[in-house]
Amino acid sequence: MLSKKGVRPSSQVSVYFSFQKKKGEQSTTHVNSSAVQKLLKNSIDAKIVTGKAKEAVLFRETQWEGVPTTLVVGLGSELTHESYRQAAATVLKSLKTTKCKDANIILQDTPAGDSDHSRNLLAFVEGLYLANYKYDELKTKKNDSTPEGFTLHLVSGKTTDRKADSLVNQAKIIAESVNLARRLGDTPGNLMTPRILADEAVAAAQSAGAKATVWDKKRIEKEKMGGLFGVAQGSHQEPRFIILEYRGTAASKKPVVLVGKGLTFDSGGISLKPGASMEEMKFDKCGGCNVIGAFLAAARLKLKVNLVALIPSSENMPGGAATKPGDVHRARNGKTFEVNNTDAEGRLILADALCYASELQPVAIFDAATLTGAMVVALGNVHSGYFTRNDQLSGRIQKASALSGELVWRMPLTDAHVEDMKGTYADLSNVSAGKGAGSATAAAFLEQFVEKGIPWAHFDIAGTAWSLGGRLNYCASKGASGSLVRTFVELARSYE
Ligand code: BES
Ligand code: ZN
Ligand code: ZN
Repeated sequence: MLSKKGVRPSSQVSVYFSFQKKKGEQSTTHVNSSAVQKLLKNSIDAKIVTGKAKEAVLFRETQWEGVPTTLVVGLGSELTHESYRQAAATVLKSLKTTKCKDANIILQDTPAGDSDHSRNLLAFVEGLYLANYKYDELKTKKNDSTPEGFTLHLVSGKTTDRKADSLVNQAKIIAESVNLARRLGDTPGNLMTPRILADEAVAAAQSAGAKATVWDKKRIEKEKMGGLFGVAQGSHQEPRFIILEYRGTAASKKPVVLVGKGLTFDSGGISLKPGASMEEMKFDKCGGCNVIGAFLAAARLKLKVNLVALIPSSENMPGGAATKPGDVHRARNGKTFEVNNTDAEGRLILADALCYASELQPVAIFDAATLTGAMVVALGNVHSGYFTRNDQLSGRIQKASALSGELVWRMPLTDAHVEDMKGTYADLSNVSAGKGAGSATAAAFLEQFVEKGIPWAHFDIAGTAWSLGGRLNYCASKGASGSLVRTFVELARSYE
């Protein structure tokens, strides 16, 4: 979709960036071309072009430097690479309203700001692809306002042509992987069962030359995964345990392991959820979907790391054979837990996956899960909360998040939270004996299945995995966001 070739002059659009420089209360508007800034003097004076974020001003038939149309897109006053990701979404939306189906985006040098030109360019291209995602597979009548094809023509970049090509390609791989994660997440429960999710994961891994193994119900039982097996008991759909392996460096190097909750539908089981908005629980697989996306991106980018992705996948349903409140199951590491609320099922399927992850003696384990409603209360849809006791790992996560542009926030995980998860009849209870701190106690439960000494972080993406309500303009206001795919890619890269 993006290429520097085949420029058709008739459909060319030049994209310029406007931005604000603040000096105390005063703010001035600038454009990243002094020539265009001069041409736009009246519009700037009249505050039509202000440089505000998400502003797009289109000038048709300008013929500046021989290009028919000029689009001036605002970056705001903080020039981070995230501003470019968002500006790209603004560009795409603007192109849609112009009914421009085949635009050549002539991307001028980006004003440097806080991050370098390469990262801005990468973010801009990512933003174009991310904003171009829509889930309309199930509609018989498609809304075709999306530009079907647009080409990106880079003009006078500070980045050399070859480097620019490679950046565009990298951005494309990352955004396509996010969009794959989104599609898996957006697909309803009847069309994305654990079996189908496993098929999709296998196809994704194989497309990147990586290995995929899938365990069925029988094998899951044989492998002593009592958590995953127990949650799946109430459903007609069989569970799956998905193992994806990518070798990017010497076999002797310890792998990075990603784990994702792949609950294809969470009804709550016998401790049934209320009916209102229950349909949103198709998104309970987003941790798993996003881990598949991150794995695919890392493999396609050929990162020099060994990477394993583990996705325990199941439905949580109240069938006749379902786990009942009070039932006790045994996880893969031998620990027993009583299921006092069958709606706290994510931690049960993750428990076995974390045991398996620990057996691989990895350099680190990162898990992502739409684990608790309490996380939504605490952080809303702005940050993904993460839990780790390892300060060094936390530093690594902060760096990865700064590079990806995805916001994360460290949450507490202490012995007090572990204490609250002790069982009465079994080693553990799946719900806390204490009041509040539901996300931290869930993390404390998970911790019981990670071998001591292995750096581990748990990300609760209950608030950020879907329906961001327009907070990020390159994510649908309703629907899966693909959160953490980009951060997990940066985390994997940090072990190169
Ligand atoms: N999948 C849910 C968590 C969830 C709830 C995500 C709302 C997004 C929005 C999870 O399986 C769950 O139901 N957790 C319970 C745990 C409780 C019973 C201890 C919760 O958070 O209410
Ligand atoms: Zn639940
Ligand atoms: Zn759940």
